[in-house]
Amino acid sequence: MNKILVIGASGQIGTELTLALRQHFSGEMVIAADLKREADLLKGTGPFLPLDIMDKEILRVQVRRHEIKTIYLLVAMLSAAGEKNPLLAWQLNMQSLINTLEVAREESVTKVFWPSSIAVFGKDAPKQNCPQDAYSAPSTVYGISKLTGEQWCHYYYYRYGIDVRSIRYPGLISYKTLPGGGTTDYAIEIFHSAIRGENYTCFLRADQRLPMMYMDDAVRATIELMEAPAAKISVRTAYNLAGISFTPEEIAREIKRLIPEFTIEYQPDFRQAIADSWPESIDDHIAARDWGWKPSFNLKKMTEEMIHHISPGLAVSTKR
Ligand code: NAD
Ligand code: SER
Repeated sequence: MNKILVIGASGQIGTELTLALRQHFSGEMVIAADLKREADLLKGTGPFLPLDIMDKEILRVQVRRHEIKTIYLLVAMLSAAGEKNPLLAWQLNMQSLINTLEVAREESVTKVFWPSSIAVFGKDAPKQNCPQDAYSAPSTVYGISKLTGEQWCHYYYYRYGIDVRSIRYPGLISYKTLPGGGTTDYAIEIFHSAIRGENYTCFLRADQRLPMMYMDDAVRATIELMEAPAAKISVRTAYNLAGISFTPEEIAREIKRLIPEFTIEYQPDFRQAIADSWPESIDDHIAARDWGWKPSFNLKKMTEEMIHHISPGLAVSTKR
């Protein structure tokens, strides 16, 4: 029995990934855990554990008790939230990973997934089709924690043989869950405003192009990477992954096609400097070569899905 533990399961990705894993395997095999309460969407779909990942001994007890063999670790403080509290972000992002890798080593967990981010790239990395091994000095504490975390994943694979796998997710866009403090959050907020009939004030410039991905693609990529034969995995830091690159102006235009009365204005804040330091697009040919990665959502298809699924009753106000 290869039981799976998803830590950070009540978050933006955690909720959708847990649901997908429970469909793929079975509800009982996938244990969801989080510091905050169980996400409403997870209720009744499988077991939930309250868990603080910063307490390594509790993590060990739960891993042993439930005979966990695979861990997905999704806890982190994201880029914008992290710049408001850099030392706390460093502590959470690093200690959660070290606790997980150490418990994996000590308790014979065989597989770990931990996501990295496009935030590993700093302003010196190429803006277009940023390559897998581009030189980078990240400009955020979040980026520093992801770059360092990738090296720890690499180390635990080569030193201890733990099958750690990782992806540098682009900004993720979802309708089932809300974002948790990132620079790419505008691309979700914009839909909620449009559906509520509110003007959207965007915190990035109109022409700020960033790498993004629809959540369905991100969840599928994660499961495909984790199911790929170990011999195919040539990158033991984290794989570059690309979906769709667009600007606020372009997504607003696409939304206006379906909601003509939608209006937007631009008031860049501190998040603009973070976005300025990231690439505009990502070269992911190594993921395509190694485990067959191919995105399936473009801007038009994603916009249609988002507008179709967010009902006016569920849309939240993004007025600041
Ligand atoms: P999120 O903030 O929505 O979710 C994180 C979850 O971790 C939350 O449910 C939170 O309650 C939980 N958590 C926080 N502290 C905890 C603790 N001490 N113990 C247990 N749980 C705790 O984040 P997300 O957007 O779902 O991101 C998940 C992962 O994906 C992170 O590693 C993030 O860096 C990475 N990532 C996300 C994006 C994105 O666009 N969302 C892009 C790139 C990478
Ligand atoms: N979406 C994330 C952020 O903006 C990128 O890792 O922080």
